[in-house]
Amino acid sequence: MVEKLICGIDIGSSKIATIVAVRSTQSQELQIIGFNSTSSRGVRRGLIVDIDEVTGSVEESVERAERMAGHKISSAYVSVGGPHISSLNSHGIVAVGNPTAEIAEDDVLRVIEAARAISLSSSQHIIEVIPRDFIVDGQSGIKNPVGMSGVRLEVDTHIITASSTNLKNIDRVLSDLGIKNQGFVFSGLSSSLSVLTTTEKELGVVAVDIGGGKTDICIYVDGSLSYSSSIPIGARHITNDIAVGLRVSLDSAEKIKLFLSKNVKKKLPKIDLSALKIPENISEVSSKTLIDEIINSRLYEIFKLIFEQIEKSGFATNVPSGLVITGGGSLTTGILETGKKVIGLPVRLGFPTGITGLIDEVIDPQYASTVGLILYGERFKMEEGVGFKNFNRLIKDFSLTTPVKKIKDFIKQFIP
Ligand SMILES: Nc1ncnc2c1ncn2[C@@H]1O[C@H](COP(=O)(O)OP(=O)(O)OP(=O)(O)O)[C@@H](O)[C@H]1O
Ligand SMILES: [Mg+2]
Repeated sequence: MVEKLICGIDIGSSKIATIVAVRSTQSQELQIIGFNSTSSRGVRRGLIVDIDEVTGSVEESVERAERMAGHKISSAYVSVGGPHISSLNSHGIVAVGNPTAEIAEDDVLRVIEAARAISLSSSQHIIEVIPRDFIVDGQSGIKNPVGMSGVRLEVDTHIITASSTNLKNIDRVLSDLGIKNQGFVFSGLSSSLSVLTTTEKELGVVAVDIGGGKTDICIYVDGSLSYSSSIPIGARHITNDIAVGLRVSLDSAEKIKLFLSKNVKKKLPKIDLSALKIPENISEVSSKTLIDEIINSRLYEIFKLIFEQIEKSGFATNVPSGLVITGGGSLTTGILETGKKVIGLPVRLGFPTGITGLIDEVIDPQYASTVGLILYGERFKMEEGVGFKNFNRLIKDFSLTTPVKKIKDFIKQFIP
């Protein structure tokens, strides 16, 4: 029997993907019952540039996923990414309300709220506040301080912000379609939820989602999300380079790119493209030109930019697990070798995990952030009419590796 639906809408630069999952009462697993991916219109580098076009493609994708699931989608988690994303780590301190007694839920809410009090330009909006570590009377490394005794409570949080205009535009798209927005989720964060292992996060790892128009980066150190960013370059740039380099149309270039990643396993001096029957009548191309000169130079540039972000984060020496690359762009031919060479760390491909059901199509790096949306929703979904009594369940859920979007909403309900 269906207990509750969890839906996600992943608004990407190349595709809009809608996913519907249930947690059945029989099994504890999250089961996918509806899925659709439709090509995206009106999105550039993660930013909505044409609301009507985006609304049209989201509507198409949602309707198809609804039909497959046999359920109407009335609310959904929605991804947001692109270079307008920024992050910072903020510290909050409060005096414990009743120092003779135990630290209460209210103290935790107050300290998180204190950490949220950052100065932010009016064009940016906080979308995520994740506690990384609680500190009680100077003792750090505490996951849940409720019930401990102390006089001073501190918290280290990771805060992600996004462009207010873009968030408003996404809200417009959803409200025009009569869908309630249950929360914005940074696409890099949702990808990392579906592809990273706990061990990787604990050792220190960089999750990289190379999409069509942008690349999202999330760095975990000591199990906690510590840096988030998004750079305006993606796999579509590789297609452009192939089009320019071989003088073919973008359509033909895209076909060649996909063909290479699926069919060229061994590097030979010449690549036979005759099976593609592209209108430009190219039947053969040299590997050196296509792979080394065109594709690898762009990959090299993408990894250089990723490397710059890792350096900028200040965590370059804290990520021995290396890079887990995902997103459609991670399927580009030769990417692992180039990545290892440029970054000097291990690089593996990340496939989404943690789900069952209609999953064959979904277990693809392109849908890492799509699957992550329902994992996020499942972890943080609060019952309607939540009260303080649910707080303990919530705080238990937010181990240091988990985001607390819902805590944020919860705080909003109770803090004037
Ligand atoms: N098998 C493949 N080989 C090479 N590239 C691929 C393959 N499959 C998909 N891609 C590329 O991945 C890109 C799309 O990736 P993805 O679906 O993750 O993007 P998106 O989520 O729509 O965009 P973004 O996250 O940047 O807003 C396209 O450029 C596509 O060409
Ligand atoms: Mg994406």
